[in-house]
Amino acid sequence: MHTVLQHPLVNHRVTLMRDQATPPKLFRELVNEITEFLAFEALKDVRMKAVDVVTPVAKARGALVDEHIVLVPILRAGMGMLDAMLDVLPYAKVGVLGMQRNEDTAEPIPYYAKVPPAKGEELAIVIDPMLATGGSACDAVAQLKKLGYRRIKCLHLIAAPEGVAKFEKEHPEVPVFIAALDERLNSHFYIVPGLGDAGDRIFGTL
Ligand code: PRP
Ligand code: URA
Repeated sequence: MHTVLQHPLVNHRVTLMRDQATPPKLFRELVNEITEFLAFEALKDVRMKAVDVVTPVAKARGALVDEHIVLVPILRAGMGMLDAMLDVLPYAKVGVLGMQRNEDTAEPIPYYAKVPPAKGEELAIVIDPMLATGGSACDAVAQLKKLGYRRIKCLHLIAAPEGVAKFEKEHPEVPVFIAALDERLNSHFYIVPGLGDAGDRIFGTL
């Protein structure tokens, strides 16, 4: 199941982010802002517990997030979304998965994994700007399942239909949240129109 954010404020930022003239500093700011919008959508059903607080005027019945969350950025580009996620979920833990696409086949090559094993009902949230062929996201979720995670969500800025289809075939129960669903992949497995190489644009390594 995938959800594409439909909001003018998201579209505005995605448009600026795509622009090849956007420099890394602005690009990173846009990634942060769009990631926060994705988090708001993806966490609509986050578990809450009721609490009472006392305002300067009266008692108020409120609710606080009551969920153990593990954020899982896929290196390297996923790191670009981490600060924004930690801003909205300051108590989340962080696990890291390193993966590099083979430039010819686009197969993901895992090179690093440091994710705490699941203890119970944690919610794991995979973050990676791009879902292209879907190989990296599929592999990340498979690794999380092996570690015992049963509740997983994926957040991406831009996706290709081919990647979404592959992901939904392999992990149909894992919800995916996307800021923009693009047209297709090109012959180099890049998203069209996309934004180019997300890692290079975040880290200024073009
Ligand atoms: C990019 C991106 C995703 C992956 C998506 O990473 O950040 O992880 O490609 O492509 P896929 O859906 O076809 O697997 P890349 O391997 O270029 O590494 P980087 O983040 O280190 O730049
Ligand atoms: N990875 C990227 O950074 N961009 C793409 O278009 C595809 C994979």
